[in-house]
Amino acid sequence: MKITPENERKISELLEKMSVRDKILQMFQMDKSAHKEEFPALSEENLGSYLSIMGEEVEALRQKAKATEHAIPPIFGIDAIHGHAWRPFATIFPSQLAMACSWNEELIEEMGAATAKEVNADGLDWVFSPVLCIARDTRWGRVDETFGEDPYLIGKLGAAIIRGYERDGLVASCAKHYIGYGEATGGRDSYDTEVTMRKVREVFLPPFKEAVEAGASTVMTAYGTLDGTPMTAHRELLTDILRGELGFEGFVVTDYCNYKLISTKHRVAQDAREAARLGITAGNDMSMNTVAFIDAAVAEAECGNIPMETIDEAVRRILRVKFALGLFEEKERMPKSVIACKEHRRLNHALTRESLVLLKNNGVIPIDNSPEKAPKSIAVIGPNANGMENQYGDWTFTSHREPAEYKRMKNDRYTVLAGMREIFPDSEIKYCLGCPVSGEEGADIAEAVRLAESADLTVLVLGDDLSQNGEAKDRAKLELTGKQTELLAAVKAVGKPLVTVMVTGKPLCIGDVLEKSDAVVQMFCGSDLGGLAAAELISGKFNPSGKLPISYPRSVGALPCYYNGYSSWHWGGYCDEERGALLSFGYGLSFTEYEYSDMEVSERTVKNGESFTVSANVTNKGKMAGKETVQLYITDHFSSVMTPRINLRGFKKIHLEPGETKRVCFTVTPDDLALVNRREETVVEPGKFTVYIAPCVPDFTYEEEKMAKIVEITE
Ligand code: NOJ
Repeated sequence: MKITPENERKISELLEKMSVRDKILQMFQMDKSAHKEEFPALSEENLGSYLSIMGEEVEALRQKAKATEHAIPPIFGIDAIHGHAWRPFATIFPSQLAMACSWNEELIEEMGAATAKEVNADGLDWVFSPVLCIARDTRWGRVDETFGEDPYLIGKLGAAIIRGYERDGLVASCAKHYIGYGEATGGRDSYDTEVTMRKVREVFLPPFKEAVEAGASTVMTAYGTLDGTPMTAHRELLTDILRGELGFEGFVVTDYCNYKLISTKHRVAQDAREAARLGITAGNDMSMNTVAFIDAAVAEAECGNIPMETIDEAVRRILRVKFALGLFEEKERMPKSVIACKEHRRLNHALTRESLVLLKNNGVIPIDNSPEKAPKSIAVIGPNANGMENQYGDWTFTSHREPAEYKRMKNDRYTVLAGMREIFPDSEIKYCLGCPVSGEEGADIAEAVRLAESADLTVLVLGDDLSQNGEAKDRAKLELTGKQTELLAAVKAVGKPLVTVMVTGKPLCIGDVLEKSDAVVQMFCGSDLGGLAAAELISGKFNPSGKLPISYPRSVGALPCYYNGYSSWHWGGYCDEERGALLSFGYGLSFTEYEYSDMEVSERTVKNGESFTVSANVTNKGKMAGKETVQLYITDHFSSVMTPRINLRGFKKIHLEPGETKRVCFTVTPDDLALVNRREETVVEPGKFTVYIAPCVPDFTYEEEKMAKIVEITE
């Protein structure tokens, strides 16, 4: 966001002329659907913002604002979190969790830029994205909205998408939910997050630091509380840290009705007035949809309980974003033709391919789809084989706006069934449901068995559904639901090759699926082209390169199982469960084999504050070209506070032809070695560090190995 002296002057002039109510109205964002009664009168006033409004009404509201005394343009926000997905048939990209599997910053940045164009063309100005929450407790309902479990990866991918959103000045992005929301106790959406400030700085703040550096125009506060203080009223986090330390210059918006929550659920304010005072003086600029906030804030400001400078500063921050977006001069918008244009579809296709993760393959895939060799018949079975809703996940027009539109689905959106039909034109594709995701209605396992028996191979598409994914849809169980386990066992018993595609919004407990299937492909909500990409993967049209951004638990009781935990005296497992994650962060197979060798570090002894480089050769030893994500990890040997066993500190995605070798080089900076000490300072403590270059999380070690080198940092 650009801050110019000219705009600052215009803002000052406006502020001079505005009444207290004018200012507070700028600090309010209206959801029409929640306030049908108040809407007609309020929309005649100069409101700061609207959310979730689309279509012709947007322009009508703009015109109304123009007719008001100060004619300040409202800023229109929308939950375009994986593409402009509330609009039927715009480009709907894979969910954040799915795109995180690509570990591809370039593609994710382009996805952000493409989404900005579609949102802007539709008359809107602000995307409530990205989600920078950390998904360590996968019972939480919103795992699919995240970039996974690792602060480093989340920070890099979050920065990439923000650069894309903000690149052309078409929309403002919104880094959310500040902060620690994914860590709510018990994975229960919006509960208190019981972590210390040291932990906040070590784990939860780094992605927001990246977001601010990448130019995020806005930040959204989480619903929850942090150690008992509502995020919306947390002055230290909103003012001292976000603005003071990270240098954030945009504005802060609350999540939905957070002001109401402060007095009704958190009960740290007695009424709306106290809530308004706490929120505004803590550093909140805009209230998302608590109508009572308007009168309450006006009253508190008029009697001097909230200093006018604080209000002015909040309004200034909001107006800055509006000026930077060119809303005052009614900057020309993108043409509507960018919505779902061919270029965005090509981008979506590339990203979707890289969003799939091959979890198991005993050699059964790729399956030749040439006319001579294609299987005569393929059975496509399962609850997620032939429906787009679960493949889209949350925050799309099927989940939020017009589910009926789904029935008119054009044939350029692909379920796995549609993808198999297109990619295997010489095979007879037979389909049956087998069973629904939940419950038993419509289940016919005998029919599935007959179908599998009559085919040369089965593609089984299992997973979860929208009732198990999304806001406030936290789960106490992560096993397959309904009769899916029975279906899997029955199809397996047929004895033909079995390829399972998991269409889910989060990692489920899939020990059984891995054991019984010959190949397993994970598609987190893959959206428009998920089914096409899955069929292409099965046929070997491309070489899978996705790697997991999140670990899979063996069972719910074994959560959390994220890779960068601590060591302890005991073995860190359970007496009734195997140790560690079922599948760990960083893991993912391909159709070729990569060899890692010749690791070197530029220096063995490095002065504190200086950087060094680490490099290694990666060779494609197989017969198929492919992309490999080379990962850099670091372990700190000794320090004043315990540090994680190992941390991701770099990654590079490279393309390798068969037989090709590339040397991959990383620069390790002081930031990569830093810890947060007991005084909450981010420092590098001298001592030994092991640096690893690896295809997935390595076993951490204090010893040197082929792909692990020790570097000593001196005073
Ligand atoms: C609730 C969600 O928590 C947030 O992510 C979303 O952007 C807002 N409401 C607006 O819909």
